[in-house]
Amino acid sequence: MKRMVLAITGASGSLYVPEFLKLAQAAGVEVHAVISDAGREVMLLETGLAPADLDPWVAAWLGFKDFTAPMASGSSRFGAMLVLPCTMGTLGAIANGISANLIHRAADVMLKEGRPLLLAVRETPFNRVHLQNMLKAQEAGAIICPPIPSFYHRPESLSEMARFVAARYCDLLGIPVEGMKRWGDEG
Ligand SMILES: Cc1cc2nc3c(=O)[nH]c(=O)nc-3n(C[C@H](O)[C@H](O)[C@H](O)COP(=O)(O)O)c2cc1C
Repeated sequence: MKRMVLAITGASGSLYVPEFLKLAQAAGVEVHAVISDAGREVMLLETGLAPADLDPWVAAWLGFKDFTAPMASGSSRFGAMLVLPCTMGTLGAIANGISANLIHRAADVMLKEGRPLLLAVRETPFNRVHLQNMLKAQEAGAIICPPIPSFYHRPESLSEMARFVAARYCDLLGIPVEGMKRWGDEG
């Protein structure tokens, strides 16, 4: 895949974003990014990062309400989309076909075009509506992949833990990741 959409929404977990962007860039994937208003606030609160701090790894930023952006149309050529992290509000909109902003619309386009859409849903605990929306989105073609870290590789830092989660997203998107320790590997 040469080009993809990354949407950042206002759920906890923005520390995964820079790790994912670095891995995508290392694999030569061009990332076009869009961030919700809440995503901007939560990312600043959790990591101290503003969108401009991610510029070295982002090919283009698109406006949250810009429905003229290329990713709003099925004729554009984006191989996949990842919503990282994905709020319950954005999940609900995607699951129910409500295109109120560019993130919802771009996700709707991925589903209608049959292209990979990964939703890194984050909330705890989940209520019945969240669970129903996850099932609905999955039945419409999305992959529901909450950012749940594993610890069997003994991460020594938060960024190492985040990189491992980000690498799982790369795996699901077909983005090659060099030098990842994997279960069953020697050493
Ligand atoms: C610090 C903080 C953490 C939040 N974490 C979550 C979360 O993990 N999951 C979630 O669904 N909403 C979370 N929210 C609420 C969303 O940001 C809020 O519902 C927002 O309207 C979502 O809009 P968006 O989907 O357009 O980003 C959080 C809000 C704040 C301020």
